[in-house]
This record gives sequence, C-alpha cells and structure tokens, in this order.
Amino acid sequence: MKQIAPSVLSANFANLREELEMINRSDADMLHVDVMDGVFVPNISFGFPLMKPMKQYSTKPLDVHLMIVHPEKYVERFCDAGAWSVGFHLEATDDPMPAIELIRKKGVRTCLTINPDIDVHRLDPYLAEVDMVLLMSVFAGFGGQSFIPETIDKIRYVRQEIARRQLPTLIEVDGGINTKNAADVFAAGADVLVAGSAVFGAKDPIAAIRLMKGL
Ligand code: DX5
Ligand code: ZN
Repeated sequence: MKQIAPSVLSANFANLREELEMINRSDADMLHVDVMDGVFVPNISFGFPLMKPMKQYSTKPLDVHLMIVHPEKYVERFCDAGAWSVGFHLEATDDPMPAIELIRKKGVRTCLTINPDIDVHRLDPYLAEVDMVLLMSVFAGFGGQSFIPETIDKIRYVRQEIARRQLPTLIEVDGGINTKNAADVFAAGADVLVAGSAVFGAKDPIAAIRLMKGL
C-alpha cells in the first residue's frame, strides 16, 4: 500500500495543533518528525518538548527521523515520548546494532537511514534487522530541496534485495517528494514517501496527499 508521511518540519509551528488536526483529517499514514542536532546536520530543528504536543494532538503514528550523532544515547527517550518508529543514520554510528536493540526492546519499530552519499550496499547486513530503511533523496538537514534522481536506482536495488530475501522490511524515501514525482518513486519500489513542503506548502494539503497516494 502506498503510504505518505507528511514532515512536520514544514508545518506552521505557530499553529501546530491546527496543522496536526488537518493531517489527522487527511489520508496521511504517519507523521514524519525530523529531529536535527546541529552536529550531524548543519541545522537544528526541535527535540523532546515538541514530542508532547505531537503525541497529544496527532492521531497519526509518529515516525521519528533522528539526524543526530550518538543516536544510542537518545533513542529510548524518543520511544518513551510516544514514537511509533525511531530511525537514525547508519553513518552516525560505528555499529547501528546497539541502538537498534534499544529501540526494539521498547517495542517500537526500527528504521535505519542513509544519506545520498552513503553506499546503499552498506544497508545489506541490516535489512533483516530493521522494520524499515529510509533512503534520503536529498542531503539531510533542510526541507525544500530537490529530489536527487539517482535515488531511483537505489530504491530499485533495495526493493529487489528485500524481495529476493523475502523480507517484510519497508522502504521509506525522504526529500524532494511532490505530486509530480511521487508516482515514479512508488513505482521504483518505495512503500512510504515523506513530503514536507509539498504538503504544508500546498494550497490544499489534503488534496496533495491524495494526489501523491494516487487516490
Ligand atoms: C530533511 C528531512 C526531510 C524534510 C523533507 O533533512 O529529513 O524529512 O523535511 O522535506 P521536503 O519534502 O520539503 O524535501
Ligand atoms: Zn526526514
């Protein structure tokens, strides 16, 4: 099933509750929560204080994307704050397994992410260890960037590998997704598309989500 995860990073935080309630009424499947530490990426977004209103007002599962160094230090707190899934970057760790185990022990879904400059084959050993892999289609750090076309081949590769090994692992793609390219990205094998500016910047976000899902 084609799933859309609007990225709250592009929401109007002055009206966060209204924005979340609008997403609740939409066909969105989850709410993507981008956490940036200013070290792993050259930008700072938000952290634990905003998890509370998001958990309170969003009826959609919270898909947390950690763009932080030492994810193993913080994954449990995001689980406790109500995350439905917690993802972090493979290249932010020497070994992703300890953080994966911590998330798993909390009963929360695990997600492993790579930036566009990381060899997609580095995910191979972990495809059976996580619930979802997140392929960045822009460099993590900012909303509103353009989709990097080379991501399509990486999605195809991971889709093939998951099929060959008969794994239930989901493929999520994040960055530069819009109503024009969503169909192609799904066709390449993605299960979940993150969309920030294409949702919250749209005149009619609810219609944009439906369009991206092909509804
Ligand atoms: C980028 C974030 C993305 C971002 C997507 O670092 O991980 O989730 O919010 O925004 P758009 O859809 O505008 O590229
Ligand atoms: Zn993200």
